[in-house]
Amino acid sequence: MALLEVKDLKTYYYTLSGIVKAVDNVSFSLEKGEVLGIAGESGCGKSTLAWSLLKLVPPPGRIAGGKILVKDNDLTKMSDDEVRSKIRWKTISMIFQGAMNSLHPMYNVGEQLVEALRYHSSGEFDEEAALNKAAELLEDVGLSKDMLRRYPHELSGGQKQRVVIAMSLMADPEIVIADEPTTALDVIVQAQILNLFKKLRKEKDLSMIFITHDLSVIAEVSDKVAIMYAGKIVEYGTSEQVFLNPLHPYTQGLLKSIPKIRSKEKIEWIPGVPPGLANPPPGCRFHPRCPYAMDVCRREEPPMIEVEPGHYVACWLHSKR
Ligand SMILES: Nc1ncnc2c1ncn2[C@@H]1O[C@H](COP(=O)(O)OP(=O)(O)OP(=O)(O)O)[C@@H](O)[C@H]1O
Ligand code: SF4
Ligand SMILES: [Mg+2]
Repeated sequence: MALLEVKDLKTYYYTLSGIVKAVDNVSFSLEKGEVLGIAGESGCGKSTLAWSLLKLVPPPGRIAGGKILVKDNDLTKMSDDEVRSKIRWKTISMIFQGAMNSLHPMYNVGEQLVEALRYHSSGEFDEEAALNKAAELLEDVGLSKDMLRRYPHELSGGQKQRVVIAMSLMADPEIVIADEPTTALDVIVQAQILNLFKKLRKEKDLSMIFITHDLSVIAEVSDKVAIMYAGKIVEYGTSEQVFLNPLHPYTQGLLKSIPKIRSKEKIEWIPGVPPGLANPPPGCRFHPRCPYAMDVCRREEPPMIEVEPGHYVACWLHSKR
C-alpha cells in the first residue's frame, strides 16, 4: 500500500455567496521516498489540497468527502486532536506558502525551531534535546548553528527559507509538503534551495509533495506530476510521461509557456483566465480556454482514464464517448 493515498477528496469553502469547490474529486498516491509535483495556475486549489492533507483547512472551508489514507489511518475520520498528536509534523509536515515571511520577529531561530516541536509533541518535552536537534538540522540545511541565536530580520531570504525547511524536519516526518517554497526567491537562491531539497530527500529518505505554479521547478525535483486545473487533477503520471508526452491541452499550454533560453521557439500562453470555483463552467472546466473544445466538452465532464500504465488524463480527446 502507498505511504499516502488520496481518494476522491473534496474540500469546499462554504461562503455566503456559494460553495467554492476548491478541491473536487482529487485522487493520487505517494510512495515512500517519492516526490510528487503538483502544478497549476493561481487559484486552482493547490494550497487548499495541501491544507487538507494536514486537516488545516481554514473556515469556511472543510473536507466535504473522500479519503486521505496514511499508514492505515483515514485522516478525514480522525479528530483534530488525534491528527495533531499522531500525524501532523511527525508523519506529514508542511512548509507553508510564504512561511519564510511569517517567522515571528520577536523570537530567535532556536526558540522558533524548538517551539515547532513543543507544539506538536504529546507528553513530556525535552528542551535540551530539541535545541540539539535544531542545531543539527541547521547544519543539514547548510546554515551554521550560530544561527540559533539570530532573529529573522538578521537573515537573508534564502537563510529564512532554510530555517523554515529545518523547522519542517524537526519531528523527523516521512512526508514533507512544500507549498511554493521557491517562489519568492531570486533564481540563484531558488537553484540552491532546489539542490537542498534533492540532498535532503536522499539523506533522509523523504517523500515530498512539491507544489508550485512553475513547471520548470517541478521538472527539477519530481518523480511524478499532477497537473491541477480549477480544483481538479486533469493529468497525472511520471515526470517523463507528462513532460515528454503531455496529453491534456492545459498541460500542453503550460509547457509551451515556459521560456527556453536556447530555443528560438516563441513563448505561447493560454488565453483567458481560470474560472471562479463557486460557479465553474459545465462539462470540462477548461473548455472556455481550450483550442480543441467540442460539443461534448461543454456538456459532460471527461472521465479520468489511464492511457498508458501510470499515465492518466481527463480529456474527451482521449476518451470514448
Ligand atoms: N478562505 C477562503 N474562503 C473562500 N474561498 C477561498 C478561501 N481560500 C481559498 N479560497 C478559494 O479557493 C480556491 C483555491 O485557492 P487556493 O489558495 O487553494 O489556490 P492555489 O492554487 O494555492 O493558488 P496560488 O497559486 O495563488 O497560491 C480559489 O478560488 C480561492 O479563491
Ligand atoms: S475535454 Fe474538451 S475542452 Fe476539455 S481539454 Fe479536452 S478537448 Fe479541451
Ligand atoms: Mg497557494
